[in-house]
Amino acid sequence: MKTDGVDRRKLTAREVSARKGGEKLVMLAAYDVATARATERAGIDLILVGDSLGMVVLGYETTVPVTVDDIVHHCRAVVRGAPRTHVVADLPFLSYHLSDAQALENAGRLMQQGGADSVKLEGGRTVAGRIRALVDAGIPVMGHLGLTPQRVGVIGGFRVQGRDRTMARQIVEDAEMVASAGAYALVLELVPTELARIVSERVPIPTIGIGAGPECDGQVLVAADLLGLDDRPPYRFVKRYAEVGAAMTDAFTRYAADVRGGAFPTGAQSYPMNLEEVTALRDELDESRSEPVP
Ligand code: KIV
Repeated sequence: MKTDGVDRRKLTAREVSARKGGEKLVMLAAYDVATARATERAGIDLILVGDSLGMVVLGYETTVPVTVDDIVHHCRAVVRGAPRTHVVADLPFLSYHLSDAQALENAGRLMQQGGADSVKLEGGRTVAGRIRALVDAGIPVMGHLGLTPQRVGVIGGFRVQGRDRTMARQIVEDAEMVASAGAYALVLELVPTELARIVSERVPIPTIGIGAGPECDGQVLVAADLLGLDDRPPYRFVKRYAEVGAAMTDAFTRYAADVRGGAFPTGAQSYPMNLEEVTALRDELDESRSEPVP
């Protein structure tokens, strides 16, 4: 949605789908109320409560330890901060693999308890049936192909997927299956630009790229990455729009120095008491000290 401010209306999954080939979709992964508010004010189309929160805010090495409870918890915060933005919630590791019933129950929790408008899950042909079951139950689903971080243990690391034509073909076929199963949009993560273009040409739903070049129908970044919240060097696909991490360290360092040096707080940050009240209080306390203990 182009408009910013309070008069905007959240996009539905169908409206997101209809943006295929039109104005580029903009999505941001965010997990807290302050970031959600800024995201809505900026007129971002979709917020993803991604399982990347495990690495970005919980300090895990991968997304694997993230639970449905974690996503619900952060989703509620995001929905409170951005009530007029479409919120997508990630189905985390092994929360949809066991059965359609398990996937429905967990996706239902993300929507009913978390307040999400749709869910995202990783995978292609192996989860196409699951996507169909969710969509049939009325749950809009966003797919996710290319680098699928929940499979990092099998893939062997966070690296570009589909550079050779065998794997590239698999990704194209998977994308077609995800779209046929009823997904309304598809995240493409860490794939070559040319492959992202081919997938985008071949599927009728919008592709939303992250490290997938400029030819997708939209883009997604993790808010903390584009803000420069982390002092580690960013991935090549990240563009930094701010250096918030450095600004935070600087602010915290100056705060500590001010407290230690007596420069904070001053009268400007304190609450005065009427002088007569103070004098009366001191007198009362002095009197009660001099009274004999019964
Ligand atoms: O969890 C996440 O933030 C994601 C994006 C990287 C697409 O899945």
